[in-house]
This record gives sequence, C-alpha cells and structure tokens, in this order.
Amino acid sequence: MQIQLQNYRMAYDDFGQGQPLLFIHGYPLSRRMWQPQMASLAMDARVLAIDLRGHGDSQATPGPYPMSLLADDCAAFLDTLGIQRPVVICGLSMGGYIAFAFYRQHPSRVAGLVLAATRPGPDTPEGQANRDKSTALARQQGVSAIAEAMLPRLLSPGTYHNRPELVNQVRTIMESVSLDGITGDLLGMKGRPDSTPTLAEIKVPTLVLHGADDQLIPLREAETMHSAIPNAGLQVLPTAGHLLNLEQPELFNQAIQGFLHDQR
Ligand code: MLT
Repeated sequence: MQIQLQNYRMAYDDFGQGQPLLFIHGYPLSRRMWQPQMASLAMDARVLAIDLRGHGDSQATPGPYPMSLLADDCAAFLDTLGIQRPVVICGLSMGGYIAFAFYRQHPSRVAGLVLAATRPGPDTPEGQANRDKSTALARQQGVSAIAEAMLPRLLSPGTYHNRPELVNQVRTIMESVSLDGITGDLLGMKGRPDSTPTLAEIKVPTLVLHGADDQLIPLREAETMHSAIPNAGLQVLPTAGHLLNLEQPELFNQAIQGFLHDQR
C-alpha cells in the first residue's frame, strides 16, 4: 500500500489489529526484510512496516536523511493513518538509530521499544571516513557494489556460506534501494547524534535483541546498551548475525510475542 506524505509517497504494509507494532528497517534495506515477521506477528498485533524514503517502493528525495527527519517521517506516517495510540517500535540497526530519535521527539507516542542489532553511539572518525568511502563507491559503481561489499558482514558466516537463497533474497532487497536512499542514509548516519544519554531516560518497556554472531555491531555493545536502559530485557539469538530476524525468524518472533504478551 502507499500513502502520500508531505513531499513523497511512502509504501507500507499493515496487517492485523490491536497494539500497533511499527517495524523500521536498517540500511540499505527495505520493509521486505520483515517478511518473516509480518504474517506471524499479525496474530498478536497490528503490524506496520514502512519503506523509508528512497528505499523499496517509497519515493526518494535528495539527501541527507538525518535520523531526526526519518523519525518525523514515521510520526507523519502514523498521523496519516490516524494512529494516535502509542506504538511499539521495532528498529533494526539504522532502524534503531531512528527509534532513539523517535523516542526523543515523540516520547508520548511510544508504548515500547525493541532495539535489534543496534547501538546508541555515534560514528567514530574511522566510521565517518568509511561512510565517505561508501558514498563514493555507490556513486561510482552503483548500488549493487554496496550490496556485494556488505553481504558477507550483514549475515553470520554460517548463513552466508550455507544459505544461498537467503543471501540472494538480501541482495535483491539491497539492490532495490535507490542511490539517493543509500547516500541519504550514509550522510544521515555519519552525522547522527550520540543516543547514549537517551538510554537512561527511556521509561517504556524495552527489549534488546542481538545476534550472537553479529559482525557489524559486536554483542558486547548491545550488552552495555542493555545495562544502561532501566528494566530492559536482553535476548541473544544463536547462529545469527546482523540480520537476526531473517536468520532466526522463529526465535525473533517468539521474543517479540513474549515482549508483547508481557505488556498486556
Ligand atoms: C544497518 O544495518 O542499518 C547499518 O549497518 C547500520 C550502520 O551502518 O551503522
């Protein structure tokens, strides 16, 4: 489905009813990454998954895409659908960076947070230099060069070597992202603020989910983040890398079902 926001058309899925559960994808992905969650969790919640601007089937706008802008896009999406009730937000990686911004900008609209494969800290100087290299690579060689460079690190080594169909699925998702989307994200992430001070301010139920084999964000960062959030839960999924929801969908879905159940 698609809706018109202020300056672009956003694509989304909307299944089930009850507590709204908004999925925010990572970089450089789209709402298709949540396919194993949508049907399964629609029994437990109203599941909403959006394509951020420039990703999947949403229109692109020129970048940069600061996390605060993408968070306001999420709020505009909820407004346009008439969802005023607080939502549970599940953000993976960059989706988590956006979830932190959403919580700062719209705290009363958040019923709970699921922080998957993410970190609160900003880019290091080395990380910022890598964003510039990726921007140059995307401009010179296109989106598929970014996909090829990232694939081995997005998935656990076991998944990457033994599950070619999943590797291809992720490649297809990445190749659907526009050049504006990729470069907009890279600039936005490069300049994102430190969300570490936000952690102690989080007053809603929170679940930290992380893959034991995440090569992009080491598990210890998720453990440190978990201990800084009052009363947060932590679940580490075995044999899963950065895309833990695709690599271990059943365990991921069970963790979210348990989290939703605890809020009732
Ligand atoms: C993501 O999965 O969203 C990205 O890897 C996050 C990042 O590059 O910092």
